[in-house]
Amino acid sequence: MNGIPIGESRRVRVTAVRQVAEDVRTFELVAADGRPLPPPTAGSHLVIEVPAGLLRHYSLCGDPRDASRYVIAVKREAAGRGGSASMHDAVEPGSILTIAGPRNQFPLAPQPSFSVLIAGGIGITPLFAMAQALQHTHSPWELHYCARSAAHAAFLGELSALRPSAVTPYLSPTPIFDAATEFSRFRPGTHVYCCGPAGLMQAVADATSHWPEGLIHFEWFSTPADTEVPNGTFEVELARSGMVLAVPGHLSVLQVVRAAGIDVPSSCEEGVCGTCETRVLAGAVDHRDHVLSPAERRANGSMMICVSRAEGGRLVLDL
Ligand code: FES
Repeated sequence: MNGIPIGESRRVRVTAVRQVAEDVRTFELVAADGRPLPPPTAGSHLVIEVPAGLLRHYSLCGDPRDASRYVIAVKREAAGRGGSASMHDAVEPGSILTIAGPRNQFPLAPQPSFSVLIAGGIGITPLFAMAQALQHTHSPWELHYCARSAAHAAFLGELSALRPSAVTPYLSPTPIFDAATEFSRFRPGTHVYCCGPAGLMQAVADATSHWPEGLIHFEWFSTPADTEVPNGTFEVELARSGMVLAVPGHLSVLQVVRAAGIDVPSSCEEGVCGTCETRVLAGAVDHRDHVLSPAERRANGSMMICVSRAEGGRLVLDL
């Protein structure tokens, strides 16, 4: 993992830490220098250099109209690589963190006639911000919120207070939201936004596969378990230096480029965060990320070099 590039970084001070659900804490952040923060939009996230030295992406869950502070919610992932645990264990009011953003890869569509929000667990964070934004603009919405129990469902009370009839909780340790039935009929003018565990995201993707392109929006924070596909070998040409590097099947483009001494920022290294996005100057890409839309993939203008590979023998990258 590399750090946040200097030009993009900003220092923030933690003003409050709150336990809002089982294993979930919110962190309120203000600019360390007291200057105004860039205003967020619903669905946006911050890149945060956590105390463990890793870069992590956390969605903003506060009211997007409030640019005086950012609020993120972090679930302590017992089986993670230590990033969330270090946020829980080492960050307290007064702590200083380095961040980049906000960035938005999960924006609300302009003026949808109806918005369906689907959340699983900590995936509620960007959808909480969206529900607030939709409510403030009097745009109709509904939320299907899946969590293990009420104690695990962060912000359930606040969401229910926002518009009680719009929120349907599904509280169970096993999946009970029936995506196939919910989306069996295409609803014209409706946009669907989903963030949660890979199983829920895949169920929604499968259930909406007959819907027109561009109406279903996902924010992935982990990769589906069944995305293993065989890797071929190919070459990457780095346009700025003219270097040509071989990418064997067991290494990613990111690993090969780094080994050659080229610094590229990364975070998830699973194709879900967008940090390693790199411009493609020539060659066809075998896109394996969960960041680019189908239209962006067809445009072939960029790729996530932590997971995506070449479809042919060589790619030319703007590195
Ligand atoms: S590092 Fe997250 S998409 Fe590549």
